[in-house]
Amino acid sequence: MSEFTRITGLMRSDNDTWDITTSVGATALFVAASRALEANKPNPLVVDPYAEMFCRAVGGEWADVLDGKAPENKLVSEFGHHFVNYQAARTKFFDTYFYGAADAGVRQIVIPAAGLDSRAYRLAWPTGTVVYELDQPQVLEFKGDVLRRSGESPTAERREIAVDLRDDWQGALLGSGFDPASSSAWLVEGLLVYLPASAQGELFAGIDRLAAPSSHVAVDDGKPFSEELYQAARDEERASADGAKFFSLIYNEQHAPAIDWFTEHGWKGAAVELTDYLRQIGRPLPGPESEAWPMFASISLVNAAKG
Ligand SMILES: C[S@@+](CC[C@H](N)C(=O)[O-])C[C@H]1O[C@@H](n2cnc3c(N)ncnc32)[C@H](O)[C@@H]1O
Repeated sequence: MSEFTRITGLMRSDNDTWDITTSVGATALFVAASRALEANKPNPLVVDPYAEMFCRAVGGEWADVLDGKAPENKLVSEFGHHFVNYQAARTKFFDTYFYGAADAGVRQIVIPAAGLDSRAYRLAWPTGTVVYELDQPQVLEFKGDVLRRSGESPTAERREIAVDLRDDWQGALLGSGFDPASSSAWLVEGLLVYLPASAQGELFAGIDRLAAPSSHVAVDDGKPFSEELYQAARDEERASADGAKFFSLIYNEQHAPAIDWFTEHGWKGAAVELTDYLRQIGRPLPGPESEAWPMFASISLVNAAKG
């Protein structure tokens, strides 16, 4: 059985859990592998050296795909070619967002569903910055082990908060020393699709509640897929013995478009369509016939500040 087959948690449930190689946990590896593939291009948009480190720590197909030894892997398909561009684009967009927030004086960074995000090691943070990383316990455990073994030092103080984002994550964040009276910058990247609409609403409300004036938020937002496409893709994934799972892991629900929700709650910002951003940075778009198109057509990158 390949590592990719193990992504099959297939049915989500209210209290499901996972480690880095199973169910939603493996999606963190999938996007890390994308960043590693981007870093190995001749002219990468961004270089995340930790992404490769995480994939090699797991090994098997996650390492083979970086070595060109997994030709059947989804990440080296036509879909994968575009998906890697999407990950590179969003990494660049949110890196730029964080540098803007740090320049504006923010020293508290909160990353719900941090997965294998390496920004606490990779970005040049001002002294005194604390990065709060929230994710499932076993995901953070794997990540912490690899980072410790790397011998590298973080560029900010990194605090792990092992919590399910469908539970009381706000209490856990406050319990870890987060100060709601000081400004903060939040990043919701690669997360909303894996949460039911109610938990998305609670996430937005929690950010708004805990964010002092002059705080920032950025969101990798997506419209739900048509019910027809969603059901057909799930059926196809169920029938397939192998291959990366995605549609089986998502809720395909949307509480509200992030830019609308935050604007209605007094934040000021903008949403850029992923397709427009890719044009701006000179990366190709999938055509409408591509398997990647429905995802690309649904995504927007949002950033906003609290007045
Ligand atoms: C696609 S990965 C994105 C990781 C990271 N933000 C990035 O872009 O590299 C999705 C992450 O969301 C986390 N996640 C999804 N649902 C969660 C939940 N209910 N509680 C905690 N973490 C969750 C997974 O464990 C995984 O690390």
